[in-house]
Amino acid sequence: MKISSNSQGSSLNSVVETPEHESVLLDEVLHWMRVRPGGLYVDGTVGLGGHSAAILEHSSPDGFLVGFEWDEASRLLALKRLQRFKGRFVLVRENFARMGEVLQELQKIPVTAILVDLGLSSYLLEGSGRGFSFLRDEVLDMRMDDRFEQTARDLVNTLPVPLLEELLRSYGEERFARRIAKAIGERRKSKPIETSKQLAEVVWRAVPPSVRYKRLHPATRTFQALRIAVNRELENLKRFLETAPDCLATGGRLVVISFHSLEDRLVKQAFKADKRLKVLTKKPIVPSAEEVRRNPRSRSAKLRVAEKI
Ligand SMILES: C[S@@+](CC[C@H](N)C(=O)[O-])C[C@H]1O[C@@H](n2cnc3c(N)ncnc32)[C@H](O)[C@@H]1O
Repeated sequence: MKISSNSQGSSLNSVVETPEHESVLLDEVLHWMRVRPGGLYVDGTVGLGGHSAAILEHSSPDGFLVGFEWDEASRLLALKRLQRFKGRFVLVRENFARMGEVLQELQKIPVTAILVDLGLSSYLLEGSGRGFSFLRDEVLDMRMDDRFEQTARDLVNTLPVPLLEELLRSYGEERFARRIAKAIGERRKSKPIETSKQLAEVVWRAVPPSVRYKRLHPATRTFQALRIAVNRELENLKRFLETAPDCLATGGRLVVISFHSLEDRLVKQAFKADKRLKVLTKKPIVPSAEEVRRNPRSRSAKLRVAEKI
């Protein structure tokens, strides 16, 4: 395997400037990862590099960071942001599910602490044009890594209605899964659903009028379910949770931030069942009221920590 690390190609300067992404639970992450000089850290979800920059700052002058980011545009933006730490990090375009193999290959194992911050960055949601947001009218793609073959558009237009219903129920915990799947099936008979706005409208019309104006937009769970399916998010998380403890030094920390109950349940159960780990957070750590006010995206974040025995 050849790992392309810190390669910029010719496209670094062509990546457009993006919305700021405010890193969630930043102080808590630094505290629980015990970031200090000389440590070897892994950021499994670099995004725009907010947590990575803070880890490098706090582990100065000689801490080292290996960053994983499978979306090339995000990786290039992070690379630009981290230039001032040149020589102290490597950013690889890899799936964090492959962390063990990649760290072996880089000879950066065992490590002091690992972070994964699941969910979407503001860049993917607002700047990538890939249809992650039901508030925008964009091509319904939803691939975080454009090397994947299947898009959300493919799923919505080709999956048999019963399977679509099952997908919405299991990945979206959507209580109107049947109505929404049926409505999608009806709509695509006349013409395919091509954009995020078209899908949001089909869902909006499919749910009972009484839930159309609730705080949570009626399409939220449908979009979550499709995104999870397209990117195989739960499979990746499971594989990561199985293999990450072997990447840690004794006393090393595993820090996971999740944004919905499916992920949080997986993390909680995996930590508890794993004989290699001691759970340090009986209850998840959540953002303060002040953080939620400043950054509403943080409101559903839950942070859990385990230590390698
Ligand atoms: C919530 S953002 C991270 C934000 C980052 N912590 C910061 O402070 O800027 C999550 C990022 O992880 C990436 N990602 C999600 N799943 C991944 C996976 N399995 N492997 C590699 N990157 C992944 C996404 O592309 C996205 O850029």
